[in-house]
Amino acid sequence: MNGRVLRNEPSDAFWMPFTANRAFHKAPRLLARAQDMHYWTPEGRAILDGAAGLWCVNAGHARPRIVAAIAAQAGELDYAPPFQIGHPDAFLFADELVRISPPGLDHVFFSNSGSEAVETALKMALAYHRARGEAGRFRLIGRERGYHGVNFGGVSVGGMVNNRKAFGTLLGGVDHLRHTHDPARNAFSRGLPAHGAEFAEDLTRLIQLHDASTIAAVIVEPVAGSTGVLLPPQGYLERLRAICDAHGILLIFDEVITGFGRLGAPFAADLFGVVPDLMTTAKGITNGAVPMGATFASRAIYQALMTGPEDQIELFHGYTYSAHPLAVAAGRATLATYQDDGLLTRAGDLAPLWADTLHGLRDCPHVIDIRTIGLVGGIELASRPGEPGARGLEAFKRAFAAGLLIRVTGDIIALSPPLIITDDQIAELAAILRDILTTLD
Ligand SMILES: Cc1ncc(COP(=O)(O)O)c(C=O)c1O
Repeated sequence: MNGRVLRNEPSDAFWMPFTANRAFHKAPRLLARAQDMHYWTPEGRAILDGAAGLWCVNAGHARPRIVAAIAAQAGELDYAPPFQIGHPDAFLFADELVRISPPGLDHVFFSNSGSEAVETALKMALAYHRARGEAGRFRLIGRERGYHGVNFGGVSVGGMVNNRKAFGTLLGGVDHLRHTHDPARNAFSRGLPAHGAEFAEDLTRLIQLHDASTIAAVIVEPVAGSTGVLLPPQGYLERLRAICDAHGILLIFDEVITGFGRLGAPFAADLFGVVPDLMTTAKGITNGAVPMGATFASRAIYQALMTGPEDQIELFHGYTYSAHPLAVAAGRATLATYQDDGLLTRAGDLAPLWADTLHGLRDCPHVIDIRTIGLVGGIELASRPGEPGARGLEAFKRAFAAGLLIRVTGDIIALSPPLIITDDQIAELAAILRDILTTLD
């Protein structure tokens, strides 16, 4: 078998993540190359990237500055152990991140993925309360339909049933808020839906059930992406913040997809004017080029743990690849690219055109809701009777065949193109979607 055939006939030695492996092998979809707004298949077919890879390639693919930084770093310092020793650029990068972070989130803990950033935040929350003499605050509150990665903590506070049901008892001491999706009142919302601030009162219910003295933290995605683009109702996050404050509960924002300009501000916390105590990020932090996660912590949390004998480790947590030199190099070049190209706010400028264009698909068959914010869009399709997810999956396959990468969750199409998308490319994306939706069973 020559190399080219091998490249196009993938072997099943690779057990693919979140994939129907057997079906995939009957009709593989492969990507071989990428530049700016496009992928190319091994056969050379161009695919417009409507998903920024997987919500991560915010500056577009293979940006020269990022490519050069990674290449140079690999030859300079390939790896440095991060425990009790450091490399200078990691400190510089943390400083640069803190300069653009929401007010008060002054400390950065590096990991390798969104899932790890979440585990880090949950552990910091528990350790913080313990350090302050409130070890009885062990309970973690997530939300129905939340997605916080795939590790045990994140799956436990997450609320997507398929991600949970096969994996036993998960973490103890976890409860969930109701989700905020309310299409009956909020369908076809542009920006934040008008109704549903009162869903935050569900936290009051859980406080009455468990007592605030047992609750360490609440974790939510400011805008839930993986579960199908669920937007926070106006006033909801403010209310959640106020209830947490009143009861000494930490608020964690999972900004793994909303971070780094996706909504038109550096972080969702900036856009919504609600600052959490801990913030998890990943994906866009390196433009997807090298795996990295980062958990931002407030000064108060950091300081509460900087106690005890000075030569003792304060937080027994970290990864072999925390602040990996290649990730740091990619991250610094990414941040410089975002800043030079105005990408941390560009989604805000494009949002009206984006919203007009996507909401223009409202008349297409099967469409029961469209939700937009920044450069994020969710198009919810009616499910085929008895076959939830089948219509969405077919839309995904048809889009790929037609030259467009989208993401689907069940029967919801989630769109999040690189933040460099042009007006014409927004129109092209919508035209391909219209073709697909009008011919889909
Ligand atoms: C909100 C949120 N948290 C966590 C994660 C997990 O990130 P990763 O896949 O890098 O572990 C994701 C991934 O989509 C996410 O959207």
